[in-house]
Amino acid sequence: MTSFTETEKDQETSKKLENLKNGHTNGVNGNGTTTENGINGNGTTTENGQHFEFTEEDFEIIEDVEDPFCVADNPVKVFFQDITSAAFLIKNGIEMTPCQRSHLSEMTGMDLYLKKEFLQFTGSFKERGARYALLMLSDEQKRTGVISASLGNHAQGLSYHANRLGIPVTVVMPTAAPMMKIQKCRNYGANVIVKGDNMSEAKKIAMSIAKRRGFVYVNGYDHPHIMAGQGTIGLEIIEQVGKPDAVVIPVGGGGLIAGVATAIKAISPRTKIIGVESEKCPSFSRALEHGGPILTPNMATLADGLAVPTVGYNAFASAVPLLDKMVVVREEWIALAILRLVEQEKCVVEGAGAAGLAAIFSGHLNEYKGKKVVLLLCGGNIDTTIFGRCLERGLAAEGRLLRFNVTVSDRPGGISELCRELAAIGVSIKDIMHERAWIKDIYSVEVKVVCETSDWAHSEQLRKILTEKYNHVVFNDVPMAIAN
Ligand SMILES: Cc1ncc(COP(=O)(O)O)c(C=O)c1O
Repeated sequence: MTSFTETEKDQETSKKLENLKNGHTNGVNGNGTTTENGINGNGTTTENGQHFEFTEEDFEIIEDVEDPFCVADNPVKVFFQDITSAAFLIKNGIEMTPCQRSHLSEMTGMDLYLKKEFLQFTGSFKERGARYALLMLSDEQKRTGVISASLGNHAQGLSYHANRLGIPVTVVMPTAAPMMKIQKCRNYGANVIVKGDNMSEAKKIAMSIAKRRGFVYVNGYDHPHIMAGQGTIGLEIIEQVGKPDAVVIPVGGGGLIAGVATAIKAISPRTKIIGVESEKCPSFSRALEHGGPILTPNMATLADGLAVPTVGYNAFASAVPLLDKMVVVREEWIALAILRLVEQEKCVVEGAGAAGLAAIFSGHLNEYKGKKVVLLLCGGNIDTTIFGRCLERGLAAEGRLLRFNVTVSDRPGGISELCRELAAIGVSIKDIMHERAWIKDIYSVEVKVVCETSDWAHSEQLRKILTEKYNHVVFNDVPMAIAN
């Protein structure tokens, strides 16, 4: 890997940061410079599925342990040749996922393509980087084993491929990691440690264990081989759909966008690279404002895969010169995107994977109407219960699930009349309750209704009918009408 010198950093990154802060867009080429990288991974196997006994001592944090691959003041950039090397090495171990024209093209007014990375065996693109990083270990490192901290997708990719390659693997997952992802890692044969309130804590624990036990710590977004592996998606996109006008990439720690942008810009410099984050974890946007990675406290988000408090130093240095636009989306748009992908595409995608479509729904990418745009549906690992809640939130965001309070007559037939009004226009009641104690008018009753309509126009029809008929109607939420 070629190291990114201070001079280059100053010239290239500062200019770019200034532009992005000012909301400008531009296209900066990837330069495809050759690196010193040799291909030394050969997939040698060791005894399969080695398990370790960890003691409380292992979990004691050693302060100031540095990851030698991710150093703040000496970031390492990923280059095009790293990505082609990765593509060559991993091609027999991962899926070349389809990149198909979307049914949502008409609705969004774009020539939309979906790169379906959720179809990888472990349900996300993370396998690419994980497999490449594992194959690039020395024989000695393969025997000793690897460790990482992850909220789930990287942990799964690493666990699965380490197991296939016979490399001992340990993952530290924060207590907030989705249960399904934790269980999957166990099933893939990893030593799973669930510890730490967030990614920063889990990472400190994992780094301390790495130091004590001699494991290689594989950062899930910032290790140079991880970025190179993720970049192979970019090569496939160009092969599958030609040179698109824009590629929209969800951003967590930044490794995905760093790799994919490097691959795409090297082949198609005019293709715009757009990053997307949730409003609950805008770490990359904050880093752009700040001029470098900075701790950004994250809140609970539907896009748990993107909840990385500090973006990677290498990823930031690699991605910033190639980035054309960053978009931050509200959670409601992510919920709506998850719903639309299920209904229109029959794709079950997690919040992080739906962020690109959310960016389109939010109107942030209207300049790409009529253009060829590729969205990375990068993961599909969503807890069933969370999935159910996302669908409900999506319906609510779109105005298809409504809550309202209405005051009706308390005389016999008052409530049934309300029900008849709803039934007459095909509105389905999901929940209904009524109360009298707090209503001033002794002959009235307040009815609280949750109901389902078929679309936005249907909801409007319901509002009109109720406000015409009743004096006191309050709709509790203002749905977000979508662009068309
Ligand atoms: C499904 C999904 N999409 C996107 C990302 C973001 O990738 P990165 O952390 O490399 O920016 C992640 C990260 O875990 C993810 O799991």
